[in-house]
Amino acid sequence: MKSTIRQIHFDEAVTALKILTRELGHPLAHHSERNASISSWLQHPLTIPLFGDKELRDKWVARLFEQSYPALGRRRESTKLVDGRHELFILYERIPFPPTSVGSFRFIDLFAGIGGFRLALQSVGGQCVFSSEWDKSAKETYYRNFGEFPFGDINIFSGEHLADDQVRDFIPNHDILCAGFPCQPFSRAGVSARNSIGLKHGFACETQGTLFFNIVRVAAVKKPAVMILENVKNLVLHDKGKTFSVIEQTVRDLGYSFSYKIINAKTVVPQNRARCFMVALHGEKEFDIPEFKGNPLPLRSILEPEPPRSYTISRRLWLGHQRRTERNLARGTGFTAHTAILDKPSNTLVARYGKDGKECLIPQKGKNPRKLTPRECARLLGFPEEFRLPDTDTPAYKQFGNSVVVPVVTKIAKLLAARFGKSLAGRKLSPK
Ligand SMILES: C[S@@+](CC[C@H](N)C(=O)[O-])C[C@H]1O[C@@H](n2cnc3c(N)ncnc32)[C@H](O)[C@@H]1O
Repeated sequence: MKSTIRQIHFDEAVTALKILTRELGHPLAHHSERNASISSWLQHPLTIPLFGDKELRDKWVARLFEQSYPALGRRRESTKLVDGRHELFILYERIPFPPTSVGSFRFIDLFAGIGGFRLALQSVGGQCVFSSEWDKSAKETYYRNFGEFPFGDINIFSGEHLADDQVRDFIPNHDILCAGFPCQPFSRAGVSARNSIGLKHGFACETQGTLFFNIVRVAAVKKPAVMILENVKNLVLHDKGKTFSVIEQTVRDLGYSFSYKIINAKTVVPQNRARCFMVALHGEKEFDIPEFKGNPLPLRSILEPEPPRSYTISRRLWLGHQRRTERNLARGTGFTAHTAILDKPSNTLVARYGKDGKECLIPQKGKNPRKLTPRECARLLGFPEEFRLPDTDTPAYKQFGNSVVVPVVTKIAKLLAARFGKSLAGRKLSPK
């Protein structure tokens, strides 16, 4: 029998699989993880889909072959599906950051946000095998950039209610675990906001504070060679250092070394953004996290030449900012809003920036100052120009305010890939 080579575009494949799953009356058709199961399976078509089974997989494969067409031209950005003598290429040409089909190591992206870690790890040859993020709008942004819809609440995949075997089945084998876990329970602003309304903070915050232990659960079961974690710099000081000691000791108890560094990203992007980066190596000595030296970059360098007028703040808002700033400066506490000095890095961009822009207002001649545009925010976090932004501004500000600075992770990941890439790739990993 003659072999055939066929192809299908990734988005057509997703639609075809959604329709088929519904036609079959499979429970996945109405499952909250349907889009994640389908899109992540397409990137790893040798696996059994999460929340599906082998029978469903075989039907998906058959349907994809039916809906595909003969392969033409180049097929660079693709994953390959082989069925007997027939090959099918799933094309990712319309996706800015497509999956690498043969990575030199595998990683997972927990608390994935819009994929700051993923951009960095993919750029040094990593293949993402699992991502989790529960914010609907962040998932959409992730999907339009990576062609993968992240799975949702990490508790579904690593919660206390699960047996080790279940966690093992949910989370694919991987070499590097990445997690910028939620920082509100540990950040200075988050702690004082929680205190003021009588809520608990740190590990005692039941919804957000315990998520570090989900990372621990995954690491305990899957034993990745490396973990890269990120959080606010206040993590180190929270609860007089007790929180951080628990984190370090817990990681060490799992058989990992633990190193950390507070890195201010201002020499790689024009933003003062000091974050705590932690690297843990299984059964190895401490990793030497690189220094970020050099001159701080000027905010001016990322500004758009002609931003739309809509970013100029209203007279009312600007007067309000000035009044509150004066009051608070006199009291020595709280809210202050100033126009930015364009020859210096900006203040730290936070998730609430879109509300009133107070952290960074761009002065304008003869006009009220303006907020940064979402594209400028993307640049402040080191996201490439091809990165597709959300359609509306409010989620865009939140997503970039929560994000990790991509070039910082890239520098760390490059060193890790150089040190471990080969041995990681050589490790025998099952296809799951
Ligand atoms: C600090 S942000 C990480 C951002 C990410 N590193 C990036 O580059 O965009 C933390 C993320 O965790 C997500 N998150 C919080 N709780 C979660 C949960 N239980 N399951 C999955 N994601 C969660 C939040 O929606 C947020 O996007």
